[in-house]
Amino acid sequence: MKKMLELIDVKKVYNQGKTNEVVALDDISLTINEGEMVALMGPSGSGKSTLLNVIGGLTPVSSGKIFVEESDVTKLSEEELAALRRDRIGYIFQHFNLLEYLTAEQNVMLPLLIQGYSLNNASTKATTLLRELGLGGRVQHFPRELSGGQEQRVAISRSLITTPALILGDEPTGDLDLSSSEDVMKLFRRVNKENKQTLLLVTHSEFIGSLCDRVIRIDDGKIVENGELVK
Ligand SMILES: Nc1ncnc2c1ncn2[C@@H]1O[C@H](COP(=O)(O)OP(=O)(O)OP(=O)(O)O)[C@@H](O)[C@H]1O
Ligand SMILES: [Mg+2]
Repeated sequence: MKKMLELIDVKKVYNQGKTNEVVALDDISLTINEGEMVALMGPSGSGKSTLLNVIGGLTPVSSGKIFVEESDVTKLSEEELAALRRDRIGYIFQHFNLLEYLTAEQNVMLPLLIQGYSLNNASTKATTLLRELGLGGRVQHFPRELSGGQEQRVAISRSLITTPALILGDEPTGDLDLSSSEDVMKLFRRVNKENKQTLLLVTHSEFIGSLCDRVIRIDDGKIVENGELVK
């Protein structure tokens, strides 16, 4: 089976050597194969966002290696990292990070435009995806004109629009009601099956966890459970 993601002894220490030093990731090793849909669970402050951020190359590690497919992200230059994020990774941030001066449609189009799509094609794809997530009537709205759950669905659309091989979701359904959460999980499962896309989804919900192939649990920067692939 092809590996999508491999972490080897990854350590992340914030404020190393200072009195406010925090060991956020404490020798994490794990492998996720292509086509797996994995939940990452653990208490607040256990290191979940940090783990996603080091995988996406947004935060440097203190030590260890992180392979996304064949690339060790800890060794890539800023340019190589940007290309990896643009072409291979879809990121759903815990706080959405939508561009406030762009409409919902434009936010979702942006990754395609960066990849060189025409305005027309990008617009068609973006509106189709937004409609699928129940936002057909909010395409021209700006983030400040949307509810938290609507903003979250725009952020989800933006992460999926380029069909990335790896989707990193930081509590992607955290602001959604049960019915919208189920719709999003169905969409995740569909892209997972149709395109073999790999998903790593942070969640506090055991229900969302139960919809994934396995659950990895971390506590205090350490893996305490690394569930087996059940399907
Ligand atoms: N930039 C930073 N500087 C210093 N410490 C940080 C920084 N970011 C996170 N931390 C610390 O690292 C630890 C892990 O934080 P992280 O955000 O990864 O937790 P989390 O599991 O995502 O929590 P939550 O469920 O609340 O989102 C926490 O103790 C936090 O205080
Ligand atoms: Mg977090």
